[in-house]
Amino acid sequence: MARKMLIAGNWKMNGLSADSIALATEIKAAVKSKKRNCEFLVCPPFTMLATVKKALRGVKVALGAQDCHFNEKGAHTGDVSPLMLTDLGCSYVILGHSERRADHGESNELVCKKAIAANKAGLKTVICIGETLEQRDRGETVDVCKNQVLGSVPADATALNTVIAYEPVWAIGTGKTPTAADVEEVHAQVRKVLAKKLGKAQANKMRILYGGSVKPANAKEFLSLPDVDGALIGGASLKSTDFMAIADNAAC
Ligand code: 13P
Repeated sequence: MARKMLIAGNWKMNGLSADSIALATEIKAAVKSKKRNCEFLVCPPFTMLATVKKALRGVKVALGAQDCHFNEKGAHTGDVSPLMLTDLGCSYVILGHSERRADHGESNELVCKKAIAANKAGLKTVICIGETLEQRDRGETVDVCKNQVLGSVPADATALNTVIAYEPVWAIGTGKTPTAADVEEVHAQVRKVLAKKLGKAQANKMRILYGGSVKPANAKEFLSLPDVDGALIGGASLKSTDFMAIADNAAC
């Protein structure tokens, strides 16, 4: 099953004008310099989306936001709608990242509502799932991830408008990672749940990314697993050489 690798950078709350332009410009040059068989995505903070879009002009790197509201417009002070993101040139939005689930109490239900609105506006979603260390220690990893998929992914999601990102919470920004076997087990189970929910055809085509301390040194180990279709990268995506080395080491 040919699923094109997605190498995605989540810049989180990092980047002022000068460093965002510099990073995007370096990524642009690196993407141009070599033919690679993967899709690139960068997700800067809202404030840098327009700037980064301009810096990436002329090169095939998709632009994504890190969250959105579930309404098109209206009285929602401080929020950004999916339509505003497409208007800016975004094609993706990350939803339900564990930092949003933890910092803003986002539930599966809310993530699903946002995903429906994002898809309606023409955005592709990267829906994040993943267990905490306590849940892992209790042996609940697969159940937690399955429930997050069942609750967060819209009933009519397709492989064209939805990407899943498995990010164990305890692996984010810590330098710790699960074993390759653990990652493959979760991804394979997630694909099974997707098959039940969306049908086998969509599940087989849907990309499931791994995220959590992905670095050039471990990229090959994770990205060569049969059910891993790319990476959602935090810290290492802020350095263009590391971001591109992850793609190169994954041989995509
Ligand atoms: P790190 O790559 O910094 O661990 O972050 C992963 C992440 O949360 C990407 O969304």
